[in-house]
Amino acid sequence: MERLAIDGGQPICAERIAPTGERYGDEEIALLTEVIRSQKLNCNVGTKVKEFGRAFADYMGMKHGVMVASGTAAIHVALGALDLNPGDEVITAPITDMGTIYPILAQNAVPIFADLDPDTLCMDPADVEKRVTSRTKVILPVQLAGNTCDMDGMRDIAKRHNLALVEDCAQSFNAKFKGEKVGTMGDVGCFSLNEYKHISCGDAGVTLTNDDALGERAQLFSDKAWPRSGDRRDHLFLAPNYRVTELQAAVAFAQLKKLDHITDTRRERGDLLTSLIADAPGVHPPKVRDGGECTYWFYWFRVDAAIRDQFAKALNGEGVPCSAGYIPKPVYLYDVLREKKTYGDSHFPYGYAPFRDPDNEIEYTEGLCPVTERALKEMIRISLNEFWTEQHVRDAACAICKVAEHLSQKPVPAGKA
Ligand SMILES: Cc1ncc(COP(=O)(O)O)c(C=O)c1O
Repeated sequence: MERLAIDGGQPICAERIAPTGERYGDEEIALLTEVIRSQKLNCNVGTKVKEFGRAFADYMGMKHGVMVASGTAAIHVALGALDLNPGDEVITAPITDMGTIYPILAQNAVPIFADLDPDTLCMDPADVEKRVTSRTKVILPVQLAGNTCDMDGMRDIAKRHNLALVEDCAQSFNAKFKGEKVGTMGDVGCFSLNEYKHISCGDAGVTLTNDDALGERAQLFSDKAWPRSGDRRDHLFLAPNYRVTELQAAVAFAQLKKLDHITDTRRERGDLLTSLIADAPGVHPPKVRDGGECTYWFYWFRVDAAIRDQFAKALNGEGVPCSAGYIPKPVYLYDVLREKKTYGDSHFPYGYAPFRDPDNEIEYTEGLCPVTERALKEMIRISLNEFWTEQHVRDAACAICKVAEHLSQKPVPAGKA
């Protein structure tokens, strides 16, 4: 067997895989110029932000789209539109960005974490069901890394328990479950256009819904609940300012035209990689359900935790850029949640009567979501993107197979099996 590159062998990739390209170009510049020339940069003066909300909603086949300052803001707008009460519970995923969690606590609701399906790293309906209580009001699945939850399962639980379903699709533009796009299957869908997402305008987000009342409230919630019509100034309820500028909308419009190409290419590259490493010993690639489509915001696979770091080092040595792991721990083990560092030293809304029962307190401790905790120790992440060629994928697959074959022949260190 050819030696590993880290042991002095020939690397599989003659050149390290590092494809990049220009994400922003003449299309963005043309629309930005148009906005600057209009002399209208604020969304209530200009038209682009409102138009982008509508254009993205049309693209997704939805009725209402509100463009806001970030993906975090898009989720906050969704929860603000749903008008939760303090102490209400929102069931969500333990592998995500804090941008999923902040809006829950900002509305004085309580995040409850459901364990993940290890093959998709998306929420497992069976575990969600176990976490439902009389206080649960929302299920907030995170469609992670371009893949999707079992949305039949999520919809069924939401329906039976009369819960709202809000999809966090920040990482999953154009991903599909049984032919349906993410962001269209619940009551509200939320997207991020930060710098790292499939499409970007630096920072922004979009909240989508088909419900007229939620759409109207979402628009209000994004702009201090100020209706901006008529001559009497009024603020209808408590809400932040999550406005974006016309400049961001200009860039977002140009990016939307590129989205199909980006997600089609990522889907093809990612699916090809999965098919090529299907027989690599000890390697568990992500699973895409029948009728589903994954748009690979990044590519991950799992290996035995005992060899994971060694695997990532060897794969880097072969010329495939990868990192061991994704987020360092489940979000519920971050200090902010574990120690309930919320508002001053109040720990609000945790334990606050009459909003919550202090005798039935939520604790975020190790072991809360065992499948997730294990998966995070097994993950290897590859930053696949639309600039990868088919040859890059074939080289990466060869390298994964080579490393997997080498490491599968080494005994697992004692105590780590
Ligand atoms: C799954 C998920 N949800 C929410 C967010 C928050 O998005 P933003 O950074 O635009 O606020 C992110 C951003 O990384 C994310 O990955």
